[in-house]
Amino acid sequence: MKHLLNWLEYSSEELKRMIELAQKFKEERRRGRRVYTFLEGKSVVLIFEKPSTRTKASLMIAVKELGGFPCSFTRDELQLSRGEPVKDTARVLSRYFDSIIARVYRHEDLEIMAKYSLVPIVNALSDKFHPLQALADIQTIVEKKGRLKELKIAFIGDGTDNVLNSLIIVSAKLGIHLSVACPKQYSPSPQLLKLLKEDISMSGACIEVVQDPVKAVKEADVIYTDVFVSMGQEQEREKRLSVFLPKYQVNEKLTEYAKDDYIFMHCLPAHRGEEVTNAVIEDSKHSVVFDQAENRLHSAKAVLYYLLGEKHGDF
Ligand code: CP
Ligand code: NVA
Repeated sequence: MKHLLNWLEYSSEELKRMIELAQKFKEERRRGRRVYTFLEGKSVVLIFEKPSTRTKASLMIAVKELGGFPCSFTRDELQLSRGEPVKDTARVLSRYFDSIIARVYRHEDLEIMAKYSLVPIVNALSDKFHPLQALADIQTIVEKKGRLKELKIAFIGDGTDNVLNSLIIVSAKLGIHLSVACPKQYSPSPQLLKLLKEDISMSGACIEVVQDPVKAVKEADVIYTDVFVSMGQEQEREKRLSVFLPKYQVNEKLTEYAKDDYIFMHCLPAHRGEEVTNAVIEDSKHSVVFDQAENRLHSAKAVLYYLLGEKHGDF
């Protein structure tokens, strides 16, 4: 049994296979096919401690279209909110459901679930990682650029961001050049980079951390950013905005340093006027954020098929 907490436990081959599956599900849906039986007789529970639009919607539909039954709870609806331990919740739900997919404040809670659950745990975003987002991101890049090798992604903003952490992991495994521009005090975790050393040397990836956004964006194929204030960090809002703005905003002036055919990506939701201007995310032909959001559905299907459905037939 395999969990999906952060992609660290997956090989580059597995990741590539999932990107292919995601692309195939997308093509089939475009041609009108929405009904599968890979998850027939299976049920998946979704737990959300934080708000969600894309993750909840894409997973509910993905489970349904693959033939399974999705069931969703907010934290308030569960006895978790009245103090039932995470480990008991995981033990109980894993006797009813075939997978537990959870969005949590503390990544450690997912690790506890993984320890006590009888079925795969999937991370639907934690304070540390957002693996489902990273798969859709890579799918989008392959779709738009036709390759992963010799690509430069510039991530501008919060170097401790959960979406970035997952992008760092997949980039390290897939041989991507990822240049992160962030304030020094918001640099990516040195422990994470250390964990990825072997992946980086095997794949030929380059993960660099700089302070100058222009340096990161120079000759980039992809410019990526995320919010400066993530869910759960609301009390740090003023402090964070004063550190990130104006230097780390993705605006037209900054994008001029990228390649002519660069694409702009954002996991959404976006805060226009903070991490990105309207001119870049909304008005520019380089912005692919809605294709990226759509790919959350196709890549969610790929993950569910890979973890739960493959035994039920070839695709
Ligand atoms: N990108 C993403 O995870 O969006 P939601 O928070 O709407 O699920
Ligand atoms: N970093 C953001 C991502 C939202 C999808 C957050 O955690 O709020």
